[in-house]
Amino acid sequence: MNKQDIKKKYNKQKKLLFKYNHHYFNLDSPLISDSKFDQLKNEIIKLEKDFPYLRKNNSITDQVGAPVLKKFKKIKHAKQMLSLSNTFDSKGMKDFINKISNYLNLKNKIFDFSSELKIDGISASLTYENGLLIKGLSRGDGVTGEDILENLKTIKDIPKKIYDDKLPKILEVRGEVYIGKNDFKKIEKNFANPRNAAGGSLRQKDPKETKKIPLKFFAYGFGVINPMIYKTQSEFISKLKKWGFIVNPYNILVSGINEIEKHHKNIESLRHSLDYDIDGIVFKINDLNLQKRLGNTSNSPRWATAYKFSSEKAISVIKDIVIQVGRTGAITPVAKIEPVTVGGVVVSNATLHNEDEIKRKDVRLGDTIVIQRAGDVIPQVVSVNLQKRKKNSKKYIFPNKCLCGSIIQKEFNLSTKKEDAVRRCNKGYDCSFIAKERLKHIVSKEAFNIDGLGKKVIDQFWKLNFIKKPSDIFELDFDKIKKLEGWGDLSVENLKTAIDQAKNISLNRFIYAIGVRHIGQENAKILASFFKSANQFAYILKQAHRDDILKNLNDLDGIGETQISSIKNFFNKNKNVEIVQKLITKLNIQDFKGTNVKGKLSNINVMFTGGFEKISRSEAKTLTENLGGKVLGSVSKKLNILVVGNSKPTKKKIEKAKELKIKIYSENEWYKLLNI
Ligand code: IVH
Repeated sequence: MNKQDIKKKYNKQKKLLFKYNHHYFNLDSPLISDSKFDQLKNEIIKLEKDFPYLRKNNSITDQVGAPVLKKFKKIKHAKQMLSLSNTFDSKGMKDFINKISNYLNLKNKIFDFSSELKIDGISASLTYENGLLIKGLSRGDGVTGEDILENLKTIKDIPKKIYDDKLPKILEVRGEVYIGKNDFKKIEKNFANPRNAAGGSLRQKDPKETKKIPLKFFAYGFGVINPMIYKTQSEFISKLKKWGFIVNPYNILVSGINEIEKHHKNIESLRHSLDYDIDGIVFKINDLNLQKRLGNTSNSPRWATAYKFSSEKAISVIKDIVIQVGRTGAITPVAKIEPVTVGGVVVSNATLHNEDEIKRKDVRLGDTIVIQRAGDVIPQVVSVNLQKRKKNSKKYIFPNKCLCGSIIQKEFNLSTKKEDAVRRCNKGYDCSFIAKERLKHIVSKEAFNIDGLGKKVIDQFWKLNFIKKPSDIFELDFDKIKKLEGWGDLSVENLKTAIDQAKNISLNRFIYAIGVRHIGQENAKILASFFKSANQFAYILKQAHRDDILKNLNDLDGIGETQISSIKNFFNKNKNVEIVQKLITKLNIQDFKGTNVKGKLSNINVMFTGGFEKISRSEAKTLTENLGGKVLGSVSKKLNILVVGNSKPTKKKIEKAKELKIKIYSENEWYKLLNI
């Protein structure tokens, strides 16, 4: 080929690459497979290498492997990236350990914990295939992340290749991208804090921009590993070091609550001398087999928690007390205070929790108070300085009306058999304050997860009458939005895409999104596994079927009287029924897939009564579900097996099972059946 032909070929290939890129990143509809795309890219890079005169302008090589991206490609995580539960004090930490002992039925065992600093940065996942870095994702919503491989590759602390003679074929390393406090000083004009700066740089469209910023990386965990050959978290951490990752030097192994407390105090005292921000210590059960047994709740593992540092306090004065209305109608009193800085953040609101708390602390307007802020939790009023109280101050009288004007009342709690501390407005969607909060819940990450439709936008669209009920979200007039200040073509286009994508929602997310009180993510999953499809679910909207369905819900393990009466109350309001009905017509609700495990217990309904010796009830439940079985909460004809533990089984249940000729197993017979 002569020079002319080479140039021609090069330009043709580059043009093709840009076209594919546009379809892939901007239109979200790739024209060719990933491997073909990479092949083409590599051919161009090779041409540039062999014939450097091609690299005059817009060279592919200079763009660290990929052309400038407009939008990151979304990729599903091979294993969900969970978040962590929080603990704020010694009691919380003890509760966390107790829960673990109970779940595993290992009372009095002193557990080993891998203790790791909780770096305040941005988490990232790196996948190595045969030692080669092939995938790099942001956390995203935990289920789906963004492809930020090219940006991650610019970070020096991240090995691009791992050498080890015994390396799993697939190895996903997870860790935290951060900016050192000193490095941050050089760029602080542009960002609020180091965490923000790290996030911003990592999501730069142009990897060249990312490269300019001094990002660092601490590795701390794993996602998918195949084959899995490690036995403990500490063993994995030492491998990380061997492979060339930077692991935090303060990571140690501790046993039992005393060592935990000692280590926590020690790190808290040196916290400010570190060159990076930390907001607590993560304690992880060291034994990976125990981690596996413990498993996860919806959002966080049972085997780890973040033990945060003690909260920061400040003194201020109460200027006003207002009430806020939550999506369940709960009325929360909030103190408007003289703005003060607490832990680097300016605070002008602090929660007073509820009417009883105000009474107990005798909080009054004009009082001088101590407020505290712990982690990302809402700041709260902790105490009142009575010495500074003005003589003419008057007791605070809690309003008896909601902001919407209707009477607010305390309800009787079915499980505690006491009156609630919280007053509620029970107008549901008829209270515009509740309605707005419900909309905010609907668009939230765990529900419809609509990017670009955050709380502030809901407030704005509410005021403009664009969104008044959930279905309005899917009928927005984008031409009107385009005319608003602050909305450009691109942001409107992105919003449109996000809303379109949100129309495809799983049944469990949909049930959670509706916002029935007492139906959180876990319960929504249980309900979804019962209803299976939106069509089946829709029967609950019909008065004639509702009572029968509610009766059946009694069978579900995890759904009790509180949840059932809450579901009943919700759907007994016609307005709720209308709103949900209309919303359904806008959506494509996917049938519940569950974990879809097939195993020894597929299509088998199991129930437990009495305590077991070897495992806890919760673990028995998980075990059953992992083998494809379903755990029921009551004895009925649907039940196939009743497993009776030795400790205080319910006689009535056994009798009823016998009557219905249901198979009855002892704990040991049950293990034999399962082959464990
Ligand atoms: S473990 C499943 N370890 O904290 C366990 N997380 O609130 C989840 N983080 O998203 C992660 N340092 O961004 C873990 N040593 C550490 C960590 C750590 C910082 C962050 C991470 C995660 C968040 C969870």
